[in-house]
Amino acid sequence: MDGALHPGLDVARIRADFPILGTSSPRGKPLVFLDSGASAQKPRQVIAAMTRCMETAYANVHRGAYNLSEVATEAFEAARVAVQKFINAADSREIVFTRNSTEAINMVAHGYGRGVMTPGQAVVVSEMEHHANLVPWQMLRDAGRGIELRVCRITDAGELDLGHLEELLADGRVGLVAVTHMSNVLGTVVPAERVVALAHAKGAKVLLDGSQAAVHRRQDVQAIGCDFYVFTGHKLYGPTGIGVLWGRLGLLEAMPPLYGGGDMIAEVTLEKSTWAPVPAKHEAGTPAIIEAVGLHAAIDYVNAIGFDAIEAHERILTDHAMAVLSAVPGLSILGRAQDRGGVFAFTLEGAHPHDLSTLLDRAGIAVRAGRHCAEPLHARLGVDGSCRASFGMYTTLAEIDFLAEALGHARKFFA
Ligand code: ALA
Repeated sequence: MDGALHPGLDVARIRADFPILGTSSPRGKPLVFLDSGASAQKPRQVIAAMTRCMETAYANVHRGAYNLSEVATEAFEAARVAVQKFINAADSREIVFTRNSTEAINMVAHGYGRGVMTPGQAVVVSEMEHHANLVPWQMLRDAGRGIELRVCRITDAGELDLGHLEELLADGRVGLVAVTHMSNVLGTVVPAERVVALAHAKGAKVLLDGSQAAVHRRQDVQAIGCDFYVFTGHKLYGPTGIGVLWGRLGLLEAMPPLYGGGDMIAEVTLEKSTWAPVPAKHEAGTPAIIEAVGLHAAIDYVNAIGFDAIEAHERILTDHAMAVLSAVPGLSILGRAQDRGGVFAFTLEGAHPHDLSTLLDRAGIAVRAGRHCAEPLHARLGVDGSCRASFGMYTTLAEIDFLAEALGHARKFFA
């Protein structure tokens, strides 16, 4: 049944592309990898593209007048165009390569928050943000520039409270709404178009943290209408060390750069420097060239399978997980959003999340335990921590059943 849940998606064939999925866990059991929300595994196509780059087409980019550097530059810039198409950005100059989503958000907090927003303005985040989309805004608030930080509530179901967002926007002083597009704990998918409509009506820009959302659903930044969108390569079956900041061209141009150095300048004298046009202005230093090639290969891989098939498969997984996990005695799932994806945080009566994850690990099951970089969200939900199972396109129904079964045994063990 797991081989073809959706006519367009052959899970068995996909799994064969991911070498690590055929290995045993370090404890000798077949690996049941349910931590793709933290970082996804890599298909051999990505690994091969990066190896090929290093073996045959590697040199620094934008600098050399020799052929090998030109070849590497072409590959690097082709990755930018692939990202542009992946999120349907209007212009490839709107794609800035970063290290990860965290760096991308920090760049906006610096460039837009300090460089464009004015004293008296506010940033709105929500109670369910990953620390990456909270701490940079706290740092901006504390930088003595008169920027306020407002926090939008979530409902008990774990959805963004749009009524509260409207209240926070009402005085017209909000410069930016920075919210997750899909919670890394609750799986909640935030109605981005609605957030954008509310924010834009009051003159606020919108940043969406797409770290989770960009992996599971096709994204179109022009259709969403947001102003900034960030995501990271390593959750999208690509390498670590590369992320993406998409911003509207005018905003990227208005933002001062966070880093200074090589490749981001137009002219330099000992007294002062001027900046190169975007995106170079925001990409100081030698970029992650090999990783950009890997991200391109990951995007090609995802595109070849297609989001119609991925979404359909993951919807089946999500519905199934909701059903079987809900049936485990003593287990509570955090969040019950209407629109949600394959991320399930849960607690089990009598079991500390770390103990539970250790027990699951003995059965070969990898889940995340703790607060998942979302400490305020756990406080809001009144729990100290949780375990989290998160799915990728290679996850099977059998793995979810195995998790539910193992949780049933764990329940008896901890009782
Ligand atoms: N942001 C990653 C997670 O949620 C690390 O697990």
